Amino acid sequence: MQKVIKDLAILKPSDKETNENVHITEESNTGKTRKLYIESYGCQMNFSDSEIVASIMAEHGFDTTSEVDDADVVLLNTCAIRDNAEQRVRNRLQNLNHVKSKKPDMVVGVLGCMAERLKKRLLEEEQMVDLVAGPDSYRDLPQLVLKADEGQEAVNVFLSREETYADIAPVRLNSNGVSAFISIMRGCDNMCSFCVVPFTRGRERSRDPYSVVKEAQDLFDKGYKEVTLLGQNVDSYLWSSNPDVISLLGEKKAVKKGADLTGVEVVNFAQLLEKVALVSPDLRIRFSTSHPKDITEEVLHTMAKYENICKYIHLPVQSGNSRVLDVMNRGYTRERYLEIVASIRRILGDECGISSDMIAGFCTETEEEHQDTLTLMKEVEYDFSYMFYYSERPNTTAAKKMKDDVPLEAKKKRLQEIIALQQELSLKRNQQDVGKVQKVLVEGFSKRSDEYLKGRNSANKVVIFPKKTYKKGDYVMVKVHDCTAATLFGDAVN
Ligand code: SAH
Ligand code: SF4
Ligand code: F3S
Repeated sequence: MQKVIKDLAILKPSDKETNENVHITEESNTGKTRKLYIESYGCQMNFSDSEIVASIMAEHGFDTTSEVDDADVVLLNTCAIRDNAEQRVRNRLQNLNHVKSKKPDMVVGVLGCMAERLKKRLLEEEQMVDLVAGPDSYRDLPQLVLKADEGQEAVNVFLSREETYADIAPVRLNSNGVSAFISIMRGCDNMCSFCVVPFTRGRERSRDPYSVVKEAQDLFDKGYKEVTLLGQNVDSYLWSSNPDVISLLGEKKAVKKGADLTGVEVVNFAQLLEKVALVSPDLRIRFSTSHPKDITEEVLHTMAKYENICKYIHLPVQSGNSRVLDVMNRGYTRERYLEIVASIRRILGDECGISSDMIAGFCTETEEEHQDTLTLMKEVEYDFSYMFYYSERPNTTAAKKMKDDVPLEAKKKRLQEIIALQQELSLKRNQQDVGKVQKVLVEGFSKRSDEYLKGRNSANKVVIFPKKTYKKGDYVMVKVHDCTAATLFGDAVN
């Protein structure tokens, strides 16, 4: 099944700010009887899940298509993180209405976080929806499609404590053939007060490290050069060869309480990173997301030890004010966060990229507290940030116990200040790269010209340079001679 990159980034400024991309399945023609179209919204976890869904459906007679009109089954893999993410999906469902009116046999299904949040209600609220499947029920999709075909109610929103889809070999979608995602865990136990994810993705569980290493090895054998290990909080990854040890005492506590682990293998995130790094020095390793509450120096030292573990950490801070962090239930203070950043600089040096997520105008945030976010940003000098204003999500602690009391205008103003500052910081950080020679992994042609290649340096920055004889998948040493806030420009050096 040949796949080409197709990242349909929506280019409206508002969407760019929120990094809300949509991925669409490519055509695969392997002679199967029915056609599946998947459109994926939200985070990398969702994009990765769609690859699992495509794999499960391929086993049950489905090729993929990039045209809704050709599809027998249309699945939207949805996000519920902010209200506008859900609005986008609802608008899309409205669009699909007219396709469906011409093709009444077409099955329309909603997967992912919005499916889990709204459950059966989706069938009532959106007339053309035939199928609803939450993130842990994808193995049931072929059965659900059969039910929908027969006009029966097709809903499965059961959340599992064990499902990690560890045995399923994902069908790579939207792939450039160079980099791929590997889910290493599912769910989230953190209960940040603003966040819907623990409700839509269920309890945290870690995937068997040997299945992760095998997937990385398989990708490398197929020519991939980079894997990104995914989880909502990779630093709390913890797997044990005897699941009882963890489940009996509750995850993490087993180790902390000094339980007798004789003969039991326990693998934490730093150890998993090392195992994957050892697959090959020519396979780059990235990971996301790190949590300031759980990141360890062991992880930083493992990163320092292996050249192929990229020197880049996405370490969302959310706010620079300790009181706001406390009401967000983030589990760290401003001071603690800055200590971690100091450790990163000490162990990995100034060239390590650091990025963040920021929420402007969370409940009760004052103007002074917002200023603390700006001063923290300046202190850290983030290379990059995803920036949002607070959007209340039903059932979260914030929605139940706090008032969404920052006026929309103030939220937007604060967000604009955060975005403007990040723009300055990104430019400043990129300027520090000018004159340096960096190792770039080529991902393909630059968007503007086939005479130029596009790749990333270790710190995850996009680097553009003249093609010469280089090609996709090559590691190239590039001397940076110019930059914008978003991109580095350079020339290959021998
Ligand atoms: N697990 C990751 C975050 C996943 S959600 C972490 O803890 O860092 C991605 C980002 O969406 C969050 O970091 C946060 O900045 C933003 N976000 C989550 N809930 C939000 C809400 N209710 N309103 C606005 N932004 C939100
Ligand atoms: Fe949401 Fe917090 Fe979990 Fe991240 S760590 S997914 S922000 S609850
Ligand atoms: Fe959205 Fe679910 Fe990811 S809510 S951000 S798709 S975990």
